[in-house]
Amino acid sequence: MAFSPRFLDEVKNRIGLAEVVGRRVRLVKKGREHTGLCPFHNEKTPSFTVNEDKGFYHCFGCGEHGSVFDFVMKTDNLSFPEAVERLATEAGLEIPVETPEERQRQERAKGLYDVMVAACAYYEKQLRMPEGKDALDYLLNRGITENSIEHFHLGFAADNLGGLKAALARENISDQLMIEAGLLIQPDDPSRSPYDRFRGRVMFPITDRRGRIIAFGGRILGVGEPKYLNSPETPLFHKGYNLYAFRQAVEAARQTGTILVTEGYTDVIALHQAGFKHAVAPLGTALTEDQIKLMWRVVSEPVLCFDGDTAGQRAAGRAAERTLPILQPEKSLSFVTLPEGEDPDSLIKAKGAQAIEEVLAQAVPLSEIIWRLETHGHRLITPEDQAGFEKRLRESTKRINNETVQKYYLNTFKSRLWDEFLKNQPKQGAKQGTKRYERQKPSVQMAEKSGVSAQIDTIWIQQAILVATLINHPELFDTIGEQLGSLEFSASDLDKLRQEVLKTLASSSGLEFQALQDHLIDTGFSKLMNGLLSRQVINHAHFARPDEHSDVARKGWEQTLRLFHRNQLLEEIRAVEEELAENPTPEAFELLKALKQTATQKEDAEENPSNFGDAKSA
Ligand code: UTP
Ligand code: MN
Repeated sequence: MAFSPRFLDEVKNRIGLAEVVGRRVRLVKKGREHTGLCPFHNEKTPSFTVNEDKGFYHCFGCGEHGSVFDFVMKTDNLSFPEAVERLATEAGLEIPVETPEERQRQERAKGLYDVMVAACAYYEKQLRMPEGKDALDYLLNRGITENSIEHFHLGFAADNLGGLKAALARENISDQLMIEAGLLIQPDDPSRSPYDRFRGRVMFPITDRRGRIIAFGGRILGVGEPKYLNSPETPLFHKGYNLYAFRQAVEAARQTGTILVTEGYTDVIALHQAGFKHAVAPLGTALTEDQIKLMWRVVSEPVLCFDGDTAGQRAAGRAAERTLPILQPEKSLSFVTLPEGEDPDSLIKAKGAQAIEEVLAQAVPLSEIIWRLETHGHRLITPEDQAGFEKRLRESTKRINNETVQKYYLNTFKSRLWDEFLKNQPKQGAKQGTKRYERQKPSVQMAEKSGVSAQIDTIWIQQAILVATLINHPELFDTIGEQLGSLEFSASDLDKLRQEVLKTLASSSGLEFQALQDHLIDTGFSKLMNGLLSRQVINHAHFARPDEHSDVARKGWEQTLRLFHRNQLLEEIRAVEEELAENPTPEAFELLKALKQTATQKEDAEENPSNFGDAKSA
């Protein structure tokens, strides 16, 4: 059976050569190539290379050479059709039935590439003609340089129905071929003649990963609908498989080890101009699995840029969810958020390349996006809330097909749940003697986290939350001020801040959040305030955020206070236990007994969250 070149290409596109070879040969990546010990002859130093770009392997020792199909044929002792069938199945592709018509179509597809090249040349030339002047001015005014115009082969389609058609006809290209290439539109009425699809638009040619022109995107000059018009799906163009500027970006991507994914063509160009030559964009749709896999063949963690507005953040969440099933070891995504309402193009214009650097420095991993997705818009105060949260996280994690990755996601989420909700809450059903307190000791994992004990860390964070909640919600002063006033924080910087906040709020009633914050910054607390409003603190206490409802903030605050008291008590117990071990006096023993009794009573009084399943069993 004959397979069409297009089909074989598609299989190769989907299946990484290095991945297939890597199952047999230990490969080491060196620049653009992978090297390893040749599986076809006996050797001690590697002379076997795999070139993913070119799609072949080669052994400098024994001369073996071939494509992914050859490799599978040789190593698995298969015929060509068998090898194709196996790899196609693995890629999730159906084997097409080859008909004579299909064959003919394939032949013609070869010609289509030439048509696209001719069209691109025509559009580029038009941009330099008098009728292209507005378009050229438009590009230059947008800050797109001559250099970029050339590099990205930008062009112009004049606003008439037959410019391209006439020009390509002079090169003996048939209407039929132009229609198939998506350049002409054939009206439904077959007696009417076809006309140019792109009119009055700046043209952005779209290439495949080998640099062949497969489509165009056309942007209207000024305002109008649609703003961007893309080629339809054609034998050459499958928009979900390709990325804008992938070819131009691949070199820089290899060098930097990453790819930047933005939304628009002009963003890509602006980024390249600003020195971010590893920027690409999807083609008018949300990023697809195939596009992600395409990037993974070059880098292990592409960075996705999203707008800071809610739509942008939702899109980020969707991209993260869509990627879960296909995650692989060392293959993921990270996410950056642009300032609200900006795209990379506008941001570079307003603030320069530095602003992009700053945004990139804040990249967060995919797991963090999933975590946020499941916290966002959910209250996380009661045990039931928290259990629901754990359940949602677990469900997301289950969607990861790769078992190893899934396992580590579970672990990561478990220990984070533990850190954020569980570690300070004694478990029920273990009320005898000192045992229950032993369970409170930081786990190995937590102890390893820093030189300082995790326990101290927790107390600092709790103190920070207690004061941060009031700073963000000064309206709570009347309800919680007195309680906060009766505390004493062990962290002296936080205690000073606590006193200042209380003093300020007591002396000027009705102070707004902003005024209070300004005052605290003026009185020298700015650094500490940054720490307080940091992710670390706010992650532990969503309720403390200024945009949370007052009641939510108050309830969260009260719960934190209870935890804080309990922690203090446990600290005290620990100190007395240590003292007892060194110097067992009856007084110390009595004190310990009393403290423990208080702790037990407290717990009985406050219905504790129960054992949280397997989140981290002692
Ligand atoms: P944007 O509207 O954000 O475009 O769409 P942009 O790139 O910032 O455009 P400028 O700066 O106004 O020129 C982002 C991408 O969405 C697709 C295009 O791929 C565009 O680059 N899009 C947008 C369409 O396919 N059709 C449209 O009508 C609009
Ligand atoms: Mn834009």
